[in-house]
Amino acid sequence: MRIGVLISGRGSNLAALIRACAEPGFRGRIALVISNRPNAEGLAIAERAGIPTLTIDHKNFASRETFDAELDRALRAAGVELVCNAGFMRILSDGFVEKWRNHQLNIHPSLLPAFKGLHVHKRALDAGVRITGCTVHFVRPEMDEGPIVAQAAVPVLPGDTAETLAARVLEAEHKLYPLALKLVIDGRARVTDERVVLIDAVGAETPAPLFVPAVQ
Ligand code: GAR
Repeated sequence: MRIGVLISGRGSNLAALIRACAEPGFRGRIALVISNRPNAEGLAIAERAGIPTLTIDHKNFASRETFDAELDRALRAAGVELVCNAGFMRILSDGFVEKWRNHQLNIHPSLLPAFKGLHVHKRALDAGVRITGCTVHFVRPEMDEGPIVAQAAVPVLPGDTAETLAARVLEAEHKLYPLALKLVIDGRARVTDERVVLIDAVGAETPAPLFVPAVQ
C-alpha cells in the first residue's frame, strides 16, 4: 500500500514509520512526504531515506480549500492510498477529509477524547492526571476526532514538566503509530458504524482500540 505522510516539523513519527516500512513483511511503503513548512526537519529525514518529498507552503495559497486541493492533487499523482498525518499542524477542510475518509490516520499525543488541540502535556499536568498517552485514529472533520485504532498509556511521574512528559509520550508514539498503521494496512482494523473493529488472524472481530499498556 502506498502511503503519503504529512508533516510540519521535526518528523520523529515519520522516522518511526520509515523504520516500520523497512521491516520484513510490512506491506506499506512511503511514496511521498509532504510538508506545509519549507524548513521542516522531517524533510531531511525523508530525503536521507530516499523518499520523494514535496513542500506545499500554505502561505502561498489564498484559502484553506486551494491549499488542500493542491495537497490532494499531489497525493493522488503519487498514487497514495493512505495518508498518515505525523505532526501535521494544519486543520484540513471538510472536503479534503471527506475525500480521504477511512484512508487517513492521525496521531495525537493524548488519550483522546481528553486534551484535544495544542499544549496537551501542559494541560494534562495542570489537570493533575496520573495517566496520559497517545492515540491513533481515523481523521474526521472535527479536530482530533474520529474512530480510534489504538491507544498507549503513559504515566505522569512526580516532578514531570511538559517537556519530560512530552518525551515519554513521544517514545510511546513511535511504537504505537507503526503498530496501528500495520493493522490498517493488513486489513486488521476496519471502520464499522464509526467504531474501529479489530480482526484477528482467524477473522474473529473485537472492538478497538487496541490498548498498549503503560510505557514507563
Ligand atoms: C507529535 O507529538 C504528534 O503526536 C503531535 O505533534 C508531534 C510531532 O512530532 N501531533 C499533534 O499534536 C497533532 N494534533 P514529530 O514531528 O517529531 O513527529
